[in-house]
Amino acid sequence: MKVSSLLLLAVLEAGGVSAFPAHLSEAFLHLRGSSEAQAQARGISDCPFAKRQAAGVIPPFDAEQQYVSNTGKHAFVAPSATDLRGPCPGLNAMANHGYLPHNGVGTIDDFISGTMAAFGMGVDLATFLAIYGAVFDGDLTSYSIGGPAPSLLGLGGLLGEPTGLSGSHNKYEGDTSPVHGDLYQYGNNKPQVPQFAALYELGQKNGDSVDLNVLTQFRATRFQQSVSENPYFFLAPFSGVVVTPAAYTFIYRFMANKTAENPMGVLNGETLKSFYAITGDYPNFTVTPGHERFPDNWYKRNALDYYTIPYLVEDALAMQLQHPEFLSVGGNTGKVNSFVGVDPANLTEGVYNAPSLLKGNNAFCFGTELILQMAPSLLSGIYDDVTEALDTLTSAVTNATKGLSCPQLTSIDKSQLGQFPGYTKLRSNGGY
Ligand code: HEM
Repeated sequence: MKVSSLLLLAVLEAGGVSAFPAHLSEAFLHLRGSSEAQAQARGISDCPFAKRQAAGVIPPFDAEQQYVSNTGKHAFVAPSATDLRGPCPGLNAMANHGYLPHNGVGTIDDFISGTMAAFGMGVDLATFLAIYGAVFDGDLTSYSIGGPAPSLLGLGGLLGEPTGLSGSHNKYEGDTSPVHGDLYQYGNNKPQVPQFAALYELGQKNGDSVDLNVLTQFRATRFQQSVSENPYFFLAPFSGVVVTPAAYTFIYRFMANKTAENPMGVLNGETLKSFYAITGDYPNFTVTPGHERFPDNWYKRNALDYYTIPYLVEDALAMQLQHPEFLSVGGNTGKVNSFVGVDPANLTEGVYNAPSLLKGNNAFCFGTELILQMAPSLLSGIYDDVTEALDTLTSAVTNATKGLSCPQLTSIDKSQLGQFPGYTKLRSNGGY
């Protein structure tokens, strides 16, 4: 079955996209001997990454600054039985190489400084992701990148043990991930070798290069697989609309190895295998979850080209324009191939609609504002008093959406979500 949703119709109606954010810092433009005004005149800040690259804007490369050590104090140390590892290959690799605490439990500051040092994540994106994790999966200041962390028990006015990222289905972790399987399809969200092999194979066919085009194609396949194989497939407002695109773009934007010849980075099969803890030769791969590694001679993003929220928004939109189904909130209704997309206008009481989601920053605004609206009930299952958690989340969302001119959402109608077992199953377990 082909997915039909309101959003597919919307793309036909949405006439072009405007007002893309410019992620290039002034410092970068200065370095390139250009000014922002000149860049805009060339249409650079007004078009997606592919056109900007075609316009010849490439980041600088500085080997000393961008080299990420995997020796000495950053040598790989496999996790012990008590060290926590989870659904994020980037964070797992960081913990294995001492860019995060080896036990897999970090503070907000650990996550911000670690993701910048190891991958070149923009401080805006790192701060938002770190705080979001602390609010929903930790004790407001720290959280585990895997399962529950006994050390956090009883802190922060928590009602129970914080779940960590592994237990954050529909809040952080979601269905239709690149390599991890859907929770209710496999009973866990562990890496699936066939999914990895499919991505690897697409990269091989592209000259041993996994780029954003490959990832867009792969994401469309994964979406269709979830529809046709997972009766409980559900795309939640935040994990589906904000985290899933990031999970795909991060693969290229962060894992690609930057060099003087290719400062944007090239992600070949061997590098991909290393970050995904895969050994063996295609097609006989083996995965050892938790053993993700930084490869030898690997270089992160340049400090003048860190991956920021506007940059992610722009990449995500480029994917969504090719596949509007990526923007769906909804899921299967208990049988495979029964996908229903919720009308965003009904969900948001008219503030957003299907065509408007395909414009500018709206999809990111939609995902982050919806989670804010859903937060009071979600957080009441986690904290005895939700005030501090809500305040922390509100200021994180306010900061993350600053400058994005988001339409203001003041209330939502969640009634339509009740038709999706992938949503209600978790609610009945005391989760979402
Ligand atoms: C504070 C920072 C971060 C947090 C809180 C975080 C959290 C998560 C979570 C919850 C998931 C599961 C999402 C899903 O279900 O698809 C995920 C997946 C993923 N993350 Fe991260 N992440 C962070 C930083 C990074 C970095 C620096 C990388 C760099 C490579 C990265 C790469 C990925 C990838 C590629 C996936 C998809 C895994 C798959 O193939 O299934 N993340 N992350």
